[in-house]
Amino acid sequence: MTVPVLTIDGPSGAGKGTASRAVAKLLNWNYLDSGSIYRSLAIAVLQSNVDLDNVAEICQVANAMALEFECGDELVVRLNGCDITSQLATETTGNAASIIAAYPEVRSVLLQKQKDFQQSPGLVADGRDMGSVVFPDAQFKVYLTASAEERALRRYKQLIEKGIDANLLQITREIEERDRRDSERATAPLIIPQGAHVIDSSTLTIQQVIDVVVDLVR
Ligand code: DC
Repeated sequence: MTVPVLTIDGPSGAGKGTASRAVAKLLNWNYLDSGSIYRSLAIAVLQSNVDLDNVAEICQVANAMALEFECGDELVVRLNGCDITSQLATETTGNAASIIAAYPEVRSVLLQKQKDFQQSPGLVADGRDMGSVVFPDAQFKVYLTASAEERALRRYKQLIEKGIDANLLQITREIEERDRRDSERATAPLIIPQGAHVIDSSTLTIQQVIDVVVDLVR
């Protein structure tokens, strides 16, 4: 029997991570945070001093990296045995991830690593191309979005809470720039997948988003 998949796609800061983790927990399903795979690769590339435009070497780093995910209350990620969780959320990592994610060769190296997460009893997959490319046959598809201003404000608050210095205007600009890059790239751009249920979280609480998504599956 096919293992059911719920895909949750959408731009940065729409609340995908929080909603996906909560829904996976409620359904007792596995969870794939595909953004953290791109972010982990970005960290590996930066650590190796490989230029962000050297596609062949980025692919080598992607093929060689060993990633371990521990999905408790918080996601813990280990890269080649080292805990890199605290570096995942920084803007430097996010921007580098967005740049390397635009290369089709890099995306194809990471494709199978993501498909391997489809394990019983089910999978909640969070990202940009989960419903369109990685799991096009998913039984349930959601596209979660929110205005750029609202997403920037949420990201700003998250960073401040973590004690990371942040500038709201700069984050808004970076979010708009990242949206543009993620939506305009030729390979697997951020789109509303066919058959996806669109949810605008600008005026919803995270609990309301979770309720709508769980209702959809149940
Ligand atoms: O969701 P996130 O902010 O953690 O993702 C970081 C970057 O990774 C994002 O700018 C684009 C890229 N990404 C992608 O291209 N495809 C995915 N499925 C997930 C993330």
